[in-house]
Amino acid sequence: MASSRASTAACFFLALCLSSIALAGNFYQDVDITWGDARAKILDDGQLLMLSLDKYSGSGFQSRNQYLYGKFDMQLKLVPGDSAGTVATFYLSSQGNTHDEIDFEFLGNLSGDPYVVHTNLYTQGKGDREQQFYLWFDPTMDFHTYSVLWNPRHIVFSVDGTPIREFRNRESAGVPYPKSQAMRAYASLWDADDWATRGGLVKTDWSKAPFTASYRNYTANGCVWNSGASSCAMGSNSWMWQELDSNAMNRLNWVQKNYMIYNYCTDPKRFPQGLPRECNAS
Ligand SMILES: *[C@@H]1O[C@H](CO)[C@@H](O)[C@H](O)[C@H]1NC(C)=O
Ligand SMILES: *[C@@H]1O[C@H](CO)[C@@H](O)[C@H](O)[C@H]1NC(C)=O
Repeated sequence: MASSRASTAACFFLALCLSSIALAGNFYQDVDITWGDARAKILDDGQLLMLSLDKYSGSGFQSRNQYLYGKFDMQLKLVPGDSAGTVATFYLSSQGNTHDEIDFEFLGNLSGDPYVVHTNLYTQGKGDREQQFYLWFDPTMDFHTYSVLWNPRHIVFSVDGTPIREFRNRESAGVPYPKSQAMRAYASLWDADDWATRGGLVKTDWSKAPFTASYRNYTANGCVWNSGASSCAMGSNSWMWQELDSNAMNRLNWVQKNYMIYNYCTDPKRFPQGLPRECNAS
């Protein structure tokens, strides 16, 4: 009796271990470097990927797999020191001119001045849904985990497990929701000194180049999309119907109250025809 219970427990934990081993990423297997030549480097047996940016080019990579829904985690250590004008990204995107996109963009700054986390969301080719945040830590000192949960109910952006933004599915109010175009994960480091830092006032100081951002432990727990079909049954993943519990809601409210510095829904000047529908829908 006791021994059969013990072996059931052992199998259960073994299964958990195997599934998390399968999840833990390796950049050699999971991504392709798509631009920047030797400015993008995979190191430590595939555990680390460093992107760099100089006067001539940035660099970037994309996931081999495409997904329709999933939970995506990436650990990033952002450009240290003077990063003004540079933007590091981690985002999901489909293709074409009615594409969907879920963006994390990290806007650099002068030494000692705060990074801005810029988020945006495109549905059927239309974006203009920015929210921006400061962080409650220095993102250049250590790796931190930036996550996107994308399921049929909502899209949640999180930092170290704390939700910072939720975009709910409001199709019932006529707001398009990403649900039929598969997306890849992308990351890049590029120069955007025409807008990134203090709206473009602070330019990239090329005497500080090359700029370097580090990526680690990319984990895609998603439904792989292959030849027009999804690899997972809708009911089979814990994240598929996951909602924010009350603790997560409290964290989200804490971030939005204390760290949000821009919200498109409170910027009526930008929308002379009226705020986007999802800003009023409840
Ligand atoms: C850079 O620092 C300035 C001054 O603290 C701040 O206003 C700005 O929001 C910071 N971030 C960016 C990306 O401009
Ligand atoms: C790698 O990421 C997974 C999923 O986010 C997490 O459970 C794990 O602890 C991470 N590993 C390290 C070494 O941070």
